[in-house]
Amino acid sequence: MKNLLRFVLLAATLNGLSAQALAEESQLDLVAKGKAVATAADCQACHTNPEGGKPFAGGYAIHSPMGTIYTTNITPSKTAGIGNYSEEQFSRAVREGVRPDGGNLYPAMPYTSYSHMSDEDIHAMYVYFQHGVQPVEQTASLTALPFPFNMRIAMAGWNLLYLDKTPFKADASKSAEWNRGAYLVNGAGHCDTCHTPRNLMMGEVTAKPLAGGMVGPWYAPNISADAVSGIGNWTQAQLVEYLKTGRTTGKNQAAGPMAEAVQNSLQYLPDSDLNAIAFYLKNSTPVRDPADKQAADSFGPKQVNVEQGLRGEHPYNANGTIKGGAALYSGYCASCHQPDGGGSKNQAYPSLYNNTATGMTNASNLISAMLYGVDRQVGEQHVLMPKFGPGSYVGQLTDEQIAEIANYVLTHYGNPAIAVSAHDVAVLRGGGPVTLLARLQPLIAPAMAVALIVVLALIYWLFRRSRKRRV
Ligand code: HEC
Ligand code: HEC
Ligand code: HEC
Repeated sequence: MKNLLRFVLLAATLNGLSAQALAEESQLDLVAKGKAVATAADCQACHTNPEGGKPFAGGYAIHSPMGTIYTTNITPSKTAGIGNYSEEQFSRAVREGVRPDGGNLYPAMPYTSYSHMSDEDIHAMYVYFQHGVQPVEQTASLTALPFPFNMRIAMAGWNLLYLDKTPFKADASKSAEWNRGAYLVNGAGHCDTCHTPRNLMMGEVTAKPLAGGMVGPWYAPNISADAVSGIGNWTQAQLVEYLKTGRTTGKNQAAGPMAEAVQNSLQYLPDSDLNAIAFYLKNSTPVRDPADKQAADSFGPKQVNVEQGLRGEHPYNANGTIKGGAALYSGYCASCHQPDGGGSKNQAYPSLYNNTATGMTNASNLISAMLYGVDRQVGEQHVLMPKFGPGSYVGQLTDEQIAEIANYVLTHYGNPAIAVSAHDVAVLRGGGPVTLLARLQPLIAPAMAVALIVVLALIYWLFRRSRKRRV
């Protein structure tokens, strides 16, 4: 009897142990899955200070047209991070943009895309952030936008207009691959937050999905299936190569925010996911911009090697004295992109024709490549083009000079229908075009004061009239 009892007890303990072991194993699986989801969603890129910050500890400054917004600490620290969040609170912050204290988040946190993420993915991410991320006990810099943008409650109104809370629903008439692609592009991967144009209120223009939009000084091109304005003439393999490595010969190279997306997120996605994204893009609704007359990557050289006779004629560019696009191109670009614009043999220095940066009707990426350079780490490979803007170690170019080079490159290798002015360069040097809403900011407070006075005057006048009538 005693023995039997011992046996039962032992069996129960073993059973309990294996159940615990099983739970631990599934927890490990969940942490791994959550990590993969967080990578596809690129949480780390925004929630880490690029200047040596600890992963997910926040403090990355996002320069929005409304002012600087800092990302928060999302490590499991109970004091500085999200260690006290319940799963429901986590889900609400990520999918609805509302903090546990009820405060609304600014849409710089892409909850408008994450709103389409599945419960399953959110659950795995929650487990990962609670158990797979190192807590960092340091509060990130606080966001303080100017009035009226500091009124977070205003975002609740904005959400009524621009937050689509419907969870992703697979389209049964489409393949599993298309649906996976749609989920990644419009949900976890939030490609739409950059590639879909925005209106005056900064809401996405849903009638023109993925038709291109400005991201600070860069332009996220049209990536809809249209053959002229979008990626319609890229093959599936070319798209996958671009997402995995950030470059496709004869098409484009990823700089700025797209380089960050490739570096922090896309290069780690399984090929099946990259193929699903490419398949979805190629089968998305084509959106054409009437200004586009031919595919951006189909412009060839119009005059080969105009550099002849220029070499040696121009002394050092002291105080920005060299003028003329051809001379400047020869001095600053030809060593890498070659005098004929064709790039190096292996295209590590890419051709400037058959390149969307020079062939679009928007020249921002050509200008910003000069101002800010290209910097991208993929696997072991570090791609670098020096910047010629502030902080350049190879020599700075003025707005006029950059405009001259841009016009030289556009007329000879790219879209000759557009021209760049020094003012255009100055705008991008200052961080990109400022939206109407932000430009109105200094006027909003006085306008509200004026409106208040008008209302008070009106009330006073009505009050007096009614009093008079009564008399
Ligand atoms: C494009 C940049 C960006 C990406 C990508 C991003 N976030 Fe954020 N996130 C922000 C910003 C900015 C804030 C702060 C917004 C504010 O102060 O209103 C924020 C706030 C949050 C908060 C609220 C924290 C708090 O209590 O204040 C959570 C939780 C969060 N993010 C989680 C995530 C997760 C999980 C992911 C990936 C699925 C993610 N974020 C991806 C920019 C980003
Ligand atoms: C943070 C903003 C941002 C996000 C998020 C983003 N992109 Fe981009 N994307 C850009 C910018 C900017 C460029 C232009 C890069 C350049 O030329 O240097 C670009 C370029 C591209 C191009 C090349 C288009 C062309 O015609 O040359 C493709 C394709 C692309 N992105 C696909 C995607 C996909 C798919 C996703 C989502 C998985 C995505 N992007 C997410 C900003 C973004
Ligand atoms: C030291 C070599 C070097 C010099 C000098 C150089 N580039 Fe580049 N350029 C590169 C590299 C490397 C890339 C990126 C290749 C990649 O991403 O695979 C690049 C990319 C570009 C792109 C594509 C950027 C995009 O966002 O799509 C443009 C446009 C460009 N360069 C124009 C210029 C112009 C104009 C000049 C002269 C002012 C210049 N480059 C000088 C090496 C150079």
